Amino acid sequence: MEFIGRLHPLLVHLPIGILLLAVLFEWLPFRKPYKSLRRSIRIILWLGFFAALSSVVSGLLLKESGYDLQSVKLHQFAGIALTLITGVYAWARGQKQFKRMYKFLSVLVLLLLLTTGHLGGTLTHGENFLFASASTETELTQVNLQQAHFYNDLVKPILDSKCYACHASGKQKGKLRLDAPEYILKGGKGGVILVAGKTDESELIHRIVLPLDDDDHMPPKEKNQLTQSEVEILKLWIASGADFEKSVVESNQLGALQKILTTKKPEPAAEIPEGNPDAANPTVINELMQLGAVVLPVANGSHYLSVNLVNVVAVDSALDLLVKVKQQTVWLKAGDLSINDSHLAKLAQLNQLIKLNVERTVVTDTGLSQLNALTQLQYLNLNQTTISATGIKQLTSLKNLRSLFVFDTKVTADDVPELQNIFPNAKIEIGNYIVPTLETDTIILK
Ligand code: HEC
Repeated sequence: MEFIGRLHPLLVHLPIGILLLAVLFEWLPFRKPYKSLRRSIRIILWLGFFAALSSVVSGLLLKESGYDLQSVKLHQFAGIALTLITGVYAWARGQKQFKRMYKFLSVLVLLLLLTTGHLGGTLTHGENFLFASASTETELTQVNLQQAHFYNDLVKPILDSKCYACHASGKQKGKLRLDAPEYILKGGKGGVILVAGKTDESELIHRIVLPLDDDDHMPPKEKNQLTQSEVEILKLWIASGADFEKSVVESNQLGALQKILTTKKPEPAAEIPEGNPDAANPTVINELMQLGAVVLPVANGSHYLSVNLVNVVAVDSALDLLVKVKQQTVWLKAGDLSINDSHLAKLAQLNQLIKLNVERTVVTDTGLSQLNALTQLQYLNLNQTTISATGIKQLTSLKNLRSLFVFDTKVTADDVPELQNIFPNAKIEIGNYIVPTLETDTIILK
């Protein structure tokens, strides 16, 4: 099904060619020897009708996210209208009594054809997703750094592969283009996106280092993400003056770039575990939902569950139920609830958890150590709690931690180097200031 959907960009060219031919034949003032061609219009129209129909079917099967829903709907509507009108035209072309309608119908088909094509073109422009490769790494390793041009050879290819789809001549999301220096300097609807020398004031960097869950994160969550080294390169380029002309050597960044491109950083967390457990007991799930929990599979066809306790009031009962489906529960959002240290004891039994969010709860340093039982944990969000570094330092069993969110807590920038030693693979997010970089670590912590 998905494959048929992916054929859509190929299939759509058929009705365009065929129907243009039909319209052309309708209007050509045929001289004697060619007059018989006129008789072929009907068969061409039927061919065009079936080609249009298969385009519509494949288009409806196409699941591509990231498009503006309104434009997709419009494009769909135009495509369906085109198919219907083509059908009517093809049928009428065989009926002598409708002779005076032919030219009118042909103009209608032409207009709908142009509209559908144009709407579709604007949707996909710049995206070659039919042949898009699964690789997320821009081909940066082939660049010879000694001779490379910083912007052209390093920055531009990253923007090209990860941003142009939405920020170039085709689509200009947020009124922003990133496909030429003058546009990058101009910025988007929110104003300037780049402040040379200042990564922390550059919206371009701000957006790419936001947590993946944040609506403002770039590229949007469902799209091909920047790798760690790509983020580092963009940061370094801006930090070193965001120059569009200089070579790597001229910018004095050869050493720093070599370091970025040769040290393999851990890739972002694989937040969906491998394999598939038995399905969770449906009665338990039902009871959870009745308490107000949102329970969803983490991925299509997976028995692993993502649970959000947003609307739950009876926290104790919900946690008791969760323990019964702990084999399946891998993501848990329990923020904004009255979760306290004694609840953490129950939470600690959910030992398959990979993501845990307990932001804005009343947990304290004292209770936190219980989370040591969650050895699979990769993501922990403690934003806006009274947690301090003392509490977090106890979590020495969380060897898999990749992201730790501690905005608006008692954790300060001074604590970060020490925490970073305990969780060497984790990105520690403490808020909107920059921590001096460690010798051993080029990540700028925001
Ligand atoms: C799938 C489409 C898509 C991709 C790919 C994408 N963006 Fe965006 N971007 C958007 C949308 C939609 C907005 C506007 C909504 C908003 O402000 O969050 C936006 C807005 C922005 C803005 C703010 C513009 C302003 O002034 O308001 C910046 C900066 C940005 N993107 C940078 C990037 C960068 C850098 C990349 C590549 C690493 C990227 N985007 C890739 C869709 C995308």
